[in-house]
Amino acid sequence: MRENTTARWGTVSITLHWMFAVFVAIQVPIGFWLSREAPQARITGDDWLLLWLEQIHHSMGFVILAVAALRISWRLSHISPSAPPAPAYQKVLAHITHIALYVLMIVFPLSGWAGSSLIGSAQFPVPINFFGLEMIGLGFLRSLEPPFNTFRLYRDIHTYCWWVGGGLLTLHILAGLYHHFVVKDDVLHRMLPVLKKRE
Ligand code: HEM
Ligand code: HEM
Repeated sequence: MRENTTARWGTVSITLHWMFAVFVAIQVPIGFWLSREAPQARITGDDWLLLWLEQIHHSMGFVILAVAALRISWRLSHISPSAPPAPAYQKVLAHITHIALYVLMIVFPLSGWAGSSLIGSAQFPVPINFFGLEMIGLGFLRSLEPPFNTFRLYRDIHTYCWWVGGGLLTLHILAGLYHHFVVKDDVLHRMLPVLKKRE
């Protein structure tokens, strides 16, 4: 079933949810590797693997941004399954976590895009690629007042997105596992139908 109902997630929501999880699982380790090694590779220009991974990171970032926009639009325009019976504090926590994850889905790639647009100089900007096509950099940021025109600000936002997002994601995954193995309800099954149904 394509559409969500009040009892279960439809195939569109499920596919977008797991696509996102796979993309992030690839994107984050590449990101950490980049921030450790890429500054030097950008200067010497001789580490083709790193420079190539940087292009992959940019390209996937744009795909993630598009998938996030699609996911949020679908979520806002369709009904979603009712929350499972749970103590009020858990419902509030789940709600806040989900909203924060949606916000991060947009801020994460945007901060990367902004930071990358400011890595080079105005005369020698570092190209931002989308699978070989040159993408538009957010060069207009250079005309803003400091600190809004510095690479460091957006790089720091990008880094904090991971520390906040990684924490929330850990909480989110633990909550999914808690529902499945402790409460033994259908919350994980309805997002991951390959699992055996509980009831
Ligand atoms: C990058 C990785 C992930 C992100 C960004 C993410 C984000 C989200 C968001 C925002 C929702 C809320 C849907 C809504 O009510 O609008 C959701 C639902 C859900 N997620 Fe994830 N998720 C990720 C990975 C995972 C993983 C690894 C698990 C495995 C435990 C998981 C389990 C679930 C479950 C069970 C639901 C449904 C909750 C319900 O039906 O109320 N998610 N996810
Ligand atoms: C949701 C999508 C994205 C995720 C999950 C992600 C994740 C990460 C992570 C975890 C890091 C390491 C942070 C650190 O150690 O400080 C990183 C670094 C980086 N990301 Fe992303 N990123 C995303 C999108 C983008 C986009 C769209 C761009 C550019 C168009 C980008 C450009 C960069 C750059 C240039 C670095 C290295 C910064 C440096 O040299 O220190 N990212 N990314």
